[in-house]
Amino acid sequence: MRRRRQFGEMENALAPYERQLVENGKLVAIGELAAGVAHEINNPLFAILALSEFLLKELEPGTRSYERVELIQTTGLEIKEIVRGLLDFGREGGEERSTIALDQVVRQTVALVRRTNAQKGISIVERYEGPLFVDASSGQVKQVLLNLLGNARHATPDGGRIVVSVRRSDTEALVSIADSGPGVDESVRDRIFEPFFTTRRGAGAGLGLAVSLGIAQAHGGTIVLEPDTRGATFTLRLPAP
Ligand SMILES: Nc1ncnc2c1ncn2[C@@H]1O[C@H](COP(=O)(O)OP(=O)(O)OP(=O)(O)O)[C@@H](O)[C@H]1O
Ligand SMILES: [Mg+2]
Repeated sequence: MRRRRQFGEMENALAPYERQLVENGKLVAIGELAAGVAHEINNPLFAILALSEFLLKELEPGTRSYERVELIQTTGLEIKEIVRGLLDFGREGGEERSTIALDQVVRQTVALVRRTNAQKGISIVERYEGPLFVDASSGQVKQVLLNLLGNARHATPDGGRIVVSVRRSDTEALVSIADSGPGVDESVRDRIFEPFFTTRRGAGAGLGLAVSLGIAQAHGGTIVLEPDTRGATFTLRLPAP
């Protein structure tokens, strides 16, 4: 009787983990698909851009035709940006470390979040002090940023605001993500980094912060929830000699 109950408990504990594995598998598959589609789009897109450039040279500036072709070109360039974002993202799943410009990685990730998420009218404000280099896996850093940005988005109400700031202290590179949500409840502050801890039942696996903290620590850094802020502010800290 006793043993049976224990087994049942373990099964319950494993269920979300297994679900997460399935989700991760789906993500990898979607990433590969996205990279494949991006390649396929590039060739016809090149034709559109080259031909509109050619037409613009033939047309009289200021005419309606000119403006229309210009619009085709602008739209084409937007598509090109999206495709480049997808390709960059798909390429960097690896864990290899190298010297990376952290500010650029933050820029890319925020740009991707802006594009791929239907914004609930949330504005994302970015603040950069200047170029900031760290020794890290850019793919893993992106994963951390996506988790923190995802949490901020979930917590932020319609019309709210997320502020992403990148700066350095004497020894560390700091990326803070501050949202205008309700903040982390005092009663759960101690638990949010535990694997499987979530207050978003049914929607969250409770792995985002646990995985992110693991990545930060593997880089000799950490993630902290800043005390006494309005909304929630999480800071990724990485060594930057
Ligand atoms: N920006 C935030 N504002 C308020 N609460 C937060 C914020 N970020 C995290 N939390 C709290 O921490 C919990 C754990 O976060 P975590 O990212 O680990 O899991 P999750 O978001 O619930 O699920 P998953 O990330 O696996 O989809 C959340 O359920 C929430 O209660
Ligand atoms: Mg999360």
